[in-house]
Amino acid sequence: MADDSSDEFMRREFPLSTQDFVFLRDFAEAQVGVVLSLDKREMIYSRLARRLRSLGLADFAAYCRLLARAQSAEVAYFIHAITTHLTAFFREAYHFDFLLETAFPQIEKSMATGRRLRLWSAACASGEEAYSLAMTVHEYGRFANWDVRILATDVDTEMLTQACAGIYGADRVSGMSVERQRRFFSRLDDGRYRVTDELLAMVSFRPFNLIQPCAAGEFHDVIFCRNVMIYFAESHRRALIARFASMQRPGAYLMLGHAETLEQGGAQFYDTCGRTIHRRQGEQ
Ligand SMILES: C[S@@+](CC[C@H](N)C(=O)[O-])C[C@H]1O[C@@H](n2cnc3c(N)ncnc32)[C@H](O)[C@@H]1O
Repeated sequence: MADDSSDEFMRREFPLSTQDFVFLRDFAEAQVGVVLSLDKREMIYSRLARRLRSLGLADFAAYCRLLARAQSAEVAYFIHAITTHLTAFFREAYHFDFLLETAFPQIEKSMATGRRLRLWSAACASGEEAYSLAMTVHEYGRFANWDVRILATDVDTEMLTQACAGIYGADRVSGMSVERQRRFFSRLDDGRYRVTDELLAMVSFRPFNLIQPCAAGEFHDVIFCRNVMIYFAESHRRALIARFASMQRPGAYLMLGHAETLEQGGAQFYDTCGRTIHRRQGEQ
């Protein structure tokens, strides 16, 4: 048995033993693929301490037992607490510029998809990325008679509820041009902003866990999977890239986050053609 007596985490309001941390770390990886190294113990403590207080639990050992119960409703809360949801409208703007200047004209010209455009925001958090895709489609302006769908998924159902509502504080919207604000948002009485019905109708939000296999569905012309794989174990990253490849036709695009690369596993499926922009290989 490990001696925890010198461990300062054991002297806190809610004792968090190394054993409890290891349980939470393994549980997180099994549920969502996220790797929590030992230096994340402080983060785990601070993100969950309030939860333990409100649940009336004495220590993390009790919290681990709660999570371990079959079909524990606490799992959704735990996932929300340990994942990072930082996002913004038109974050990493070069991807949206690339759509306007390169990807959309290519897709329009090739017509390979039969006047259908399928975009996927694969870890959409509170929805800003998906609505930025919808705005970009509008700004491009030449898909008016096309069947355009934007799929937006996330494992965190709390984030999906926010995303579906399409309501954002003024601070979230203020970074966009006044023209975009006027065209794509209406101002609510409480000072917040709501995306237009037109944008809402273009996006379908669904729960989806990127580390789980999925049934073959439609091909995606562009996948945005940004700032999520960076938290995954390498085995999950590799499996996910292979799965994306199976869901894209040659010539389709995969956009990753600014600190993410395809590494060895992806080079057999995609060519890199810009900053974190990858193109599915194969005959078109
Ligand atoms: C930092 S946000 C990225 C948001 C957006 N893609 C961007 O780049 O601005 C990461 C999101 O990934 C989600 N996430 C984490 N693990 C996931 C998984 N296994 N499957 C699906 N989404 C996951 C989190 O819930 C979170 O909303």
